[in-house]
Amino acid sequence: MVKSLRGMNDITGLESKKFNFIIETSSRIAKKYGFEYIETPLLEETALFKRSVGESSDIVGKEMYQFIDKGKNDVCLRPEGTAGVVRSFIQNKLDKRGEKQKFFYFGSMFRYERPQKGRFRLFHQFGCESFGESSVFEDASIILMIRDIFETLEISFTLKINSLGCSECMPKYRANLIIDLEKKRDELCEDCNRRIEINPIRTLDCKSESCQTKLSDSPKIVDNLCEECYSDFDKLKKILSENGVDFEIDKHLVRGLDYYSKTAFEFVSDEVGSQNAIAGGGRYDKLVEFLDGKPTPAVGFALGIERILDLVTLPKTDMEGWYFGVLDEENLETIFNLASRKRVFQKVHIEYRKRSLKTHIKNALKMGYQHCAILGSDEVANRTIWVKDLKAKYEEIISQDSF
Ligand code: HAM
Repeated sequence: MVKSLRGMNDITGLESKKFNFIIETSSRIAKKYGFEYIETPLLEETALFKRSVGESSDIVGKEMYQFIDKGKNDVCLRPEGTAGVVRSFIQNKLDKRGEKQKFFYFGSMFRYERPQKGRFRLFHQFGCESFGESSVFEDASIILMIRDIFETLEISFTLKINSLGCSECMPKYRANLIIDLEKKRDELCEDCNRRIEINPIRTLDCKSESCQTKLSDSPKIVDNLCEECYSDFDKLKKILSENGVDFEIDKHLVRGLDYYSKTAFEFVSDEVGSQNAIAGGGRYDKLVEFLDGKPTPAVGFALGIERILDLVTLPKTDMEGWYFGVLDEENLETIFNLASRKRVFQKVHIEYRKRSLKTHIKNALKMGYQHCAILGSDEVANRTIWVKDLKAKYEEIISQDSF
């Protein structure tokens, strides 16, 4: 039997209902915040991710589904959504308009990771990207939007925030951090040693407890921000507090993608196991320029749909629609025509196999239909149809002509 690939799962049954509910809820809330839907390709030039997510990141270094296509192009399946949206923003010359543009998207992402609970090779994100607004109020607005999404989905979370500084304060901080790391080099793990050269800031979120202890007194970027970054971070904290959003400052939060500056945040849940990040994002003011667009500030986030599937409870749906059935199969054509007429306005199910009245009613109830419409020989002879409203619990015989 051919099976799906490791780390790539089907989403079916109740999970697919929850999946749709998450996308519908998130899309509705994103539209309220002024975001519009954007669809970008699943396959992009590898260079796009190398230049945006960054060659030093694990995503690009180890996890890309990369191959040479038949036209000898170096391509890869998108590991995340931001790079493609930024590419589209520049390619469609939206950067030249100088207007604020806001996009939301959802879809498949691919990372060749070691699969475990909450970590897949194919997973789905819902994400938003806001272009052209440098005010920290936009960072706060994105965080409030995620809060609204999780509150509507009844998911509890802890919000962690940090500031990664800008092109003024980050390089100075980075140089100081390298001096500190060099002193600790022998005590740090192999991964951290590698990162000292390629991306020293990422040592701060090393998963090894021993490294974390050694790095506890290392300099932190929030304590070394320039005046503008400091004031923006301060303002962000104030806006969040004034809007009733609790947060923790996590000085070790650096994110696994290289394009961030200033605000970085993660929403974590203690109900999902070790892969506890349910959403993440931040500001990436230099990325548009870096990908050859007109300098445009930007901020965004993505949430991991698989990570929250188990946390979502579907709202109780009311009974609705019409279930059609026959007692004799020769009456199928008539019931098919009557049902098709009803479908213009309502959700309809037609049962093609003949069943007893009792079984039809049982099926209709099980499937959540409000009305059960049945044709037997008497109804056919009188050109009528028997209908029971399963919610209001009354039945009637209706003429087929007025049905
Ligand atoms: P990210 O933190 O890499 O950010 O991913 C966002 C979310 O996707 C994570 O918080 C997690 O819930 C989910 N996720 C990531 N990897 C996996 C996996 N292997 N299996 C299941 N779920 C996963 C980004 O992707 C950025 N593009 C977010 C962003 C948008 N920043 C600015 N704009």
